[in-house]
Amino acid sequence: MSRTARVLEVLGLAPLWVRRERLAELQAAQLQAEAANEPAQPEARVERESAAPVADAPAPVERPASQRPAPPTVVVPSPASRAAQEPQQIVQPADARSARIAGLDWDALQAEVAECTACNLCHSRTQTVFGVGNPQAEILIVGEAPGAEEDKRGEPFVGAAGKLLDNMLTAISEKRGERVFIANVLKCRPPGNRNPTVEEVAKCAPLLQRQIELIKPKVIFASGRFAIQTLLETDAPVGALRGKVHQYKSIPVVVSYHPAYLLRNLPDKAKAWRDLLLLKATFKQQG
Ligand code: URA
Repeated sequence: MSRTARVLEVLGLAPLWVRRERLAELQAAQLQAEAANEPAQPEARVERESAAPVADAPAPVERPASQRPAPPTVVVPSPASRAAQEPQQIVQPADARSARIAGLDWDALQAEVAECTACNLCHSRTQTVFGVGNPQAEILIVGEAPGAEEDKRGEPFVGAAGKLLDNMLTAISEKRGERVFIANVLKCRPPGNRNPTVEEVAKCAPLLQRQIELIKPKVIFASGRFAIQTLLETDAPVGALRGKVHQYKSIPVVVSYHPAYLLRNLPDKAKAWRDLLLLKATFKQQG
């Protein structure tokens, strides 16, 4: 540490700013320190919140939002426009493609995704991003859509947000590829990292639904508003849905902020930590 940095730290002022690439590391260090109930490294103080005590106990279970018979789903536009960033909802079936996807096995589903041309994103993607991890995973993490790095590498959450997600998992003693599977609502990158459109979510929804049916996770961690709204059929904001266990076809769903959001909104990191504890507790409760 430089002399200036040390002086600033002694004054309680360090660091004045943190490079974006370093941010995920600092947040991870903090999450892990919180997990171990130890003070975070000094550099991490810039975004530190008081580590509120959290009960490692299951939250009340909310009534299922999507208890319905099996078949495929289609997203219909919410009344509000995309420009207004309004939510999107999965509603019931059913077209021939959805019905066909609902009958695919894992390998066929992977092939379906790899060759998908159901929306215009197939023209701009480098490759599809099916998901990563154990096909029999017990914990399923659902994000929004691949970004530039994911599009390049064909794996979800490998950029800055992914680094934070990995460290969040580490903080609860989990790891991608072990008993975790990571997928996205969209399997292709929206150009320029724009939000997914209603139509894109609609086309991809049967693929995610089939992934869930085949994986049969014990718990789903819905990360960010697109995953949450797609799975729970709600237009409620993330903040209003946190802290309780929801249901997707009888599978418990814990919701939280998206890691990319957390990188920009440091104070909400403490809430994300509580969400991770709820995820862990819910998982434990599932045996
Ligand atoms: N954000 C997501 O939601 N998914 C990814 O795969 C990467 C970033």
